[in-house]
Amino acid sequence: MRAEIVVLPGDGIGPEVTAAAVSVLESVGRRYGHTFAFTHRLIGGAAIDAEGAPLSDATLDACRKADAILLGAVGGPKWSDGKIRPEQGLLKLRKALGLYANLRPVKTHPVALTASPIKSHLLTGVDMIVVRELTGGVYFGEKTRTDTTASDLCEYSVAEIERVVRRACQLARGRRKYVVSVDKANVLETSRLWRQVASRVAAEEFPDVRLEHQLVDSMAMHLIARPREYDVIVTENMFGDILTDEASMLAGSMGLLPSASLGEGTSGLYEPIHGSAPDIAGRGIANPCGTILSAAMLLRHSLGLEQEARCVEKAVAQAIDDGCLTADLAPQGAALDTLAMAKAVLQRLETECEAVV
Ligand code: NAD
Ligand code: IPM
Ligand code: MN
Repeated sequence: MRAEIVVLPGDGIGPEVTAAAVSVLESVGRRYGHTFAFTHRLIGGAAIDAEGAPLSDATLDACRKADAILLGAVGGPKWSDGKIRPEQGLLKLRKALGLYANLRPVKTHPVALTASPIKSHLLTGVDMIVVRELTGGVYFGEKTRTDTTASDLCEYSVAEIERVVRRACQLARGRRKYVVSVDKANVLETSRLWRQVASRVAAEEFPDVRLEHQLVDSMAMHLIARPREYDVIVTENMFGDILTDEASMLAGSMGLLPSASLGEGTSGLYEPIHGSAPDIAGRGIANPCGTILSAAMLLRHSLGLEQEARCVEKAVAQAIDDGCLTADLAPQGAALDTLAMAKAVLQRLETECEAVV
């Protein structure tokens, strides 16, 4: 097949990790006879510097026309005091393309267990997916600011809740048929609506799926106390943002977690859950696995290439199991840099592809 992929490297470690993921996609293309045409464009701080805005109309247009978008990360101290922030570019992209469902899978790899600050006996077999609502809530409500007060409005409509809960329940059907919906219904009106709508959608449309509700504060605790029990978690925008950074510690590093942002009939956006990591940017030591695994999700969700997606996921898992680890996961002195980690994955693509059924 032929696919147009827009690459938005962004800021900080963004260009380092996207380069690794593009090399993996190129290798997949060669191996399976696909042509992936990559167009690189600016987003975030890099776009503010070069184009005066964090997401230009031309870039947004290119994203709309593409089959899929691969993004690194945006933001950094250089732009954090400015009036225009790099993050606005990413939020605009998500909203403009209607990418309301952000899928964030969390899995543990045996070798990485030692890298997690959580006791390893709790971690074996962890395999969950967080469905984070991505285009609503406090991120997109009206914002006000005077000299003495500030406010961010949190708003959700029934339709916004229905569609993301439906996605979560559909996903659950292919898994353990178990969904936990996370809210703060003891305090927030939006959460009370969320809970009511989630219950109705599950009962009416997914009687085969078990739905439970959990308050977000205790969920933050349960997530690390008994992570194996969870399968699909669905939640609103900001709770999902926070809980998935927490969940990355189950896998051992922020650098491991991928994501897919999906809408209806628009290009999907694929990015690691981590940020631009200003503390390690420019040193070539970032973990590219979250972005490589995001590329696997791109193959699956936007291009329908399930076998190729599994091949990439197997290659990453095998490289990690073989002890190929970047500094965020490796014991001191034994770390691979970003390029060497990408190479380790590329080598395993050669051996793992045939094994995929
Ligand atoms: P961060 O995710 O950038 O970094 C948090 C910590 O995790 C740092 O210590 C970093 O070194 C480490 N880390 C992150 N990714 C890593 C990787 N691939 N390999 C190894 N270590 C990794 O979060 P932050 O420091 O709070 O935010 C920095 C900037 O990134 C901010 O401007 C923020 O807005 C932005 N951000 C962007 C995105 C995105 O583009 N999707 C996501 C999160 C944060
Ligand atoms: C993420 C990031 C973004 C978010 C920021 C950079 C706007 O933290 O993708 O998780 O909060 O959604
Ligand atoms: Mn985040």
